[in-house]
Amino acid sequence: MNRRDLLKGTTGVVMGSAWGPVAASSAAATQPATRPLGQSVSKMRQVLSLNRGWRFLEGDVPFPKVMGHGWSYANAKAGSAWGAASPIFDDSEWSTVTLPHDFASFQLPDKNENLAQGYRKRGIAWYRNLLRFEPSDRGKHIELHLDGISTHATVWLNGTLVNRNWSGYNSIYIDITPYITYGESLNSLVVRVDADQMQGWWYEGAGIYRNTWIVKRDPVHIVTDGVFAHPVKYGDQWTIPLEVTLYNAGKTARTVQVTSTVRDPKGKAIATTRMSATVTALSRAVSTGSMTVSQPSLWNIETPFLYSITTQVISHDRVLDEVVTPAGFRTQHFDPNRGFFLNDQPVKLKGVCIHQDHAGVGVAVPHGILHYRLQRLKDLGCNAIRCSHNAQDKYFYELCDQMGFLVMDENRVFNPSPIHMNELEWLVRRDRNHPSVILWSVFNEEPMQGSEQGFEMVRRMSALVKTLDTSRPVTAAMNDGLFTPINVSQAVDVVGFNYQYQSYDAFHKANPNIPLTSSEDTSAYQTRGEYTTDDARHIKATYDDDAAEWGTTHRTGWKAIAERDFIAGAFVWTGFDYHGEPTPYDWPSNSSQFGIMDLCGFEKNAFWLHKAQWDQSPVLRIAPHWTWSGKQGQPIRVMAFHNMDEVELFLNGKSLGKQKGDIFEMNRWEVPYAPGTLHAVGYRQGKAAAKHVVETTGAPVSLKLTPHRKSMWGDGLDAQPIKVEAVDARGRHVPIAQNQITFDITGGDIIGLGNGNPNDVSSEKGNTRALFNGLAQIIVQTKENSAGTLQITATAAGLTAAKIEIEVEKAAAWPYQDVSTPVQITEGWRRAPAQSAPIDPNLRPKDNDMNSWGWFRPGVPFSPLATDSYVLCATVVEPFKRIRKAGGQVECLNLMGACTVFVDGIEAANKSDPGAGDLKFNLPAGDGARRLTIIFRAKAGQPFGFGDVLRIRTV
Ligand code: GAL
Repeated sequence: MNRRDLLKGTTGVVMGSAWGPVAASSAAATQPATRPLGQSVSKMRQVLSLNRGWRFLEGDVPFPKVMGHGWSYANAKAGSAWGAASPIFDDSEWSTVTLPHDFASFQLPDKNENLAQGYRKRGIAWYRNLLRFEPSDRGKHIELHLDGISTHATVWLNGTLVNRNWSGYNSIYIDITPYITYGESLNSLVVRVDADQMQGWWYEGAGIYRNTWIVKRDPVHIVTDGVFAHPVKYGDQWTIPLEVTLYNAGKTARTVQVTSTVRDPKGKAIATTRMSATVTALSRAVSTGSMTVSQPSLWNIETPFLYSITTQVISHDRVLDEVVTPAGFRTQHFDPNRGFFLNDQPVKLKGVCIHQDHAGVGVAVPHGILHYRLQRLKDLGCNAIRCSHNAQDKYFYELCDQMGFLVMDENRVFNPSPIHMNELEWLVRRDRNHPSVILWSVFNEEPMQGSEQGFEMVRRMSALVKTLDTSRPVTAAMNDGLFTPINVSQAVDVVGFNYQYQSYDAFHKANPNIPLTSSEDTSAYQTRGEYTTDDARHIKATYDDDAAEWGTTHRTGWKAIAERDFIAGAFVWTGFDYHGEPTPYDWPSNSSQFGIMDLCGFEKNAFWLHKAQWDQSPVLRIAPHWTWSGKQGQPIRVMAFHNMDEVELFLNGKSLGKQKGDIFEMNRWEVPYAPGTLHAVGYRQGKAAAKHVVETTGAPVSLKLTPHRKSMWGDGLDAQPIKVEAVDARGRHVPIAQNQITFDITGGDIIGLGNGNPNDVSSEKGNTRALFNGLAQIIVQTKENSAGTLQITATAAGLTAAKIEIEVEKAAAWPYQDVSTPVQITEGWRRAPAQSAPIDPNLRPKDNDMNSWGWFRPGVPFSPLATDSYVLCATVVEPFKRIRKAGGQVECLNLMGACTVFVDGIEAANKSDPGAGDLKFNLPAGDGARRLTIIFRAKAGQPFGFGDVLRIRTV
């Protein structure tokens, strides 16, 4: 596979995001499967990562108290944010971070913090960056994308507030074109994050935890998420209704052509259409059309054939903009009696609910880890995922399209007020082309669900969704209020049941025409690798005994759904354990125990149970492990998870009897413990169809490391989990090993550690972690611009170390936005009225003078004057700490006209040349603010002033 192929989708088509082929099973996961960042760059549309060069401060920087008339006046103006929001704030001693960044994931669990958030301190933090745009960018439309910030974010560009976002899960797109400066004068981008705010009752992370981008386009372009092209079928005919939203940031109206071309999975164009649109200046226009396609290969769970649609904006044969969106040809409907149908075939939803965090990395989940998680769900036999209770990263949906998952996409805040309707609208616009998305969920378990108010609220939210997409039903996850006279079930297309098993039949009987699905079920507890529930140790056995009072065991939950055709399917709470909400225990438990898999994606027995029930292939797995001490002769409960007609169990070769297989309840035995081999054989139609063996292992003697993939991309972004285990002298996994392991890495970084122990309060960062019941995980990331190998060594006292090498393939650098290290620019300049006689450099405006002295920012020369004049300009600068300590260099770039510069009234430099030129001089070290004054000796009719920025650099 060459690199060009890897920039293509499974379909062989370069998509709106460039992604790599995705293996459908673990076996194929040895290939470098994904490029972590998914954005394409074309000549007409540049999508540049803005993940680098951020300066970060954990904690708040209070805004200074504005005092006096002059400051109060200035404070009220655009571009005048103060404190850490100001372009001139000294961040040069802050740490530097690369996004995505979850600052809560660096915290140790702390008993005094909120258990809901995994006992992690969250709080307030600031992020600052300096962006450089070239003069050649002038005239382009430049947009900032912040894909996800937890939780409240305030964003300033060059000292102007450009947006606030109170959603920890929605992206924001900000047109920053009007605020931008070009060339040497850099652009200050500041984000204040308030993660004391919460939107959930689970671990939400903190900070800018998803990717950030700068998108540069022609002034006439397709707006972000501006193509809607989701195929629908009428009779035998497939149609793709097209809706393309254009924007014109230019100064005059433009008439453009809009073309759309459908390409099949091999990249061959199979249908095309052309539309014309006129977009007036600073307005949007929506261009509509349609295309028809005959007999496409259908998208479905097993063979998710992905087509693509390339939409271009063309003017006089020049392509101004291009967007590629995924397309899957599939039909869907929910039947009130028979459940969900995909392409007219019944499909029982075998789904899980998930949150977005993973061991070690919190919510800043690299795309390689996201891919691993979804692959684990494929391995499970899961076909549906509920994004509980919020939007996921956009790459999640791309992977679901490629891997064949059905997605219930969920809105976070239940509220039809404009601010939250915007969030809902954003969700639908972003995700409505994904064939994987089958349901829009407007809420989860809202107290108003059984009331008229809830009904009215959902009615409005559903109506909004319908203006954007009529092809998918709206649902809501209800855990009560189903039978009140007016309730939400009357305002949705499909009713989602959270638990409420006892009401499945009654509700169906009372509402025979309303389609139903579980939106959430089960909530059973298991601690991976444990076989005795021990409340004192906060441990739950993995025999599927324990569930929350509102939930059921995995077996009971699935049986209730599997036996009812009118329930479209299950969404088990949850696919993976997640940080926070450590039900049923609290401290030191800091993650949930609901997962079918643990925090690392290691399987609990619930995995084998569901795989047996959900997967068609033969599954037989016995539990527990067979390595016990001090249990000789004592009965051990053995359970087989399987989908066999019969199962026979053997201890040390001796049959313990054959049982008729029960694929709902599963089979069990009480076996007096004797070391050796326990094995089971499963039979289908009388023939042995599966076997599973567990053996008594010896003590651990060495460590073993197993990567998820054999090779990685050397782009500094690609990440993957490495499984860590201890093995005995015969190389067998020791299920009871709890050794403390230390890791060493060269050629990459360890970005997180985990072991799936919900009660472990040690750091998930660093280089050491204990095994928990035989397993741990490290998450490694390559270094930018690297190639060769990444080497990891694991050591533990008394054990032979393990060492592995992972191939690192050279990858072309991702396109990054140009950013700068801290530079002190100057602001707050005032200009005195021109005078014919020389001026005292100490001249100052009165505090209440807003008018005779002007206000300006260096960068644009002044208009020529009618007579030769002296013009004084001044500002006060608080030099950055480093400059105060070591001195700096003042750079006055492109000064026009002869002039003299003064520092605190004393001449520092002089420029006698009346033309344009730079002036640089040293600023000695020293504390306190400095007053910079420049007196221009302007010649009549000649331009003079600041042709560019005036800044101070450290020396
Ligand atoms: C549900 C809720 C989930 C989670 C779960 C735990 O009621 O929707 O977010 O809290 O309970 O059982």
